[in-house]
Amino acid sequence: MTLLGGLDIGGTKCAVTLGKVHERGIDLLARHSFPTPRTPQEALKLLADTLERLLEENRSEGRLQAIGISCGGPLDSRFGIVLSPPNLPGWDSIDCVGPMRERFGVPVGLQNDANACAMAEWKWGAGQGCDNMIFLTFGTGMGAGLILNGRLYTGTNDMAGEAGHIRLASDGPVGYGKAGSFEGFCSGGGIALLARERAETALAEGGNGDAPAFCPSIGDLDAITTQKVGEAARQGDRLALDIFETVGRRLGQALAILVDVLNPERIVIGSIYGRQQALLEPVVRRELAREALPLSLEVCQIMPAGLGENVGDYASLSIASSMLGA
Ligand code: BGC
Ligand code: NA
Repeated sequence: MTLLGGLDIGGTKCAVTLGKVHERGIDLLARHSFPTPRTPQEALKLLADTLERLLEENRSEGRLQAIGISCGGPLDSRFGIVLSPPNLPGWDSIDCVGPMRERFGVPVGLQNDANACAMAEWKWGAGQGCDNMIFLTFGTGMGAGLILNGRLYTGTNDMAGEAGHIRLASDGPVGYGKAGSFEGFCSGGGIALLARERAETALAEGGNGDAPAFCPSIGDLDAITTQKVGEAARQGDRLALDIFETVGRRLGQALAILVDVLNPERIVIGSIYGRQQALLEPVVRRELAREALPLSLEVCQIMPAGLGENVGDYASLSIASSMLGA
């Protein structure tokens, strides 16, 4: 059995995990999460302090053998350096691996979060047994991890899978620095932007009679979340349903591109897809049937993350595990 540490650096929150790998899979032993601190220096310090505390609390589990760090890209996994991810302002050329290796004295690896999620789902989740699978994050950002011909495909300089940057429409919410991008339509921030714009128009045009349930007045615009729009849609709010129609259509459009280009056996989608599957899935299927090549589509399953809301924790641990050649 092998004791591993996982550090997950996200645009909204960070998480530290301890896991134990055995023949049948992996157990999560401990986890602690906190809002992402303002500067990379504070974040790295808090991540390391938290890992040390979890190790002390779990001393009976043995000695730490490796650490995996999962973070949004762009990043350089060979040198362990994070290079200005769109959802982590201020993280410009930050060495994440060096300080951890120095402090803990074990092998440390850094990998793109979507790549790491793909590895985790492939090893322990919904991607088991597949040779060709794609993982899409669909959380704070939109990133893809590609398992092709039975191994992780990272590209020429670690940039493979930056699917969130693909422009799907000439206009639309901004994500990854680009209006109408896949991340613009399909991410937590993007959905909030889209909903905000639609709500503002509806409130300006319609007076209070037509106020959307997820945003009753102008004062509520800043508080719009995907969660709230989802709740309103489930209660039949017309504008909320329409927003999910747009998001589902864009997701289907992007999936069709991935299906046509890569001919995967499975596409596993994280966070928001799992939470809003009932609203998104029918729209996505309709769009895919319209857009993707039938021969590719008939062999491809689309499903939410098998590791559910915990996929990010398993992701960082999967990096640690691959540091040990597992
Ligand atoms: C980043 C990707 C990342 C994704 C999910 C995107 O904005 O560019 O590298 O995988 O967000 O965090
Ligand atoms: Na990626």
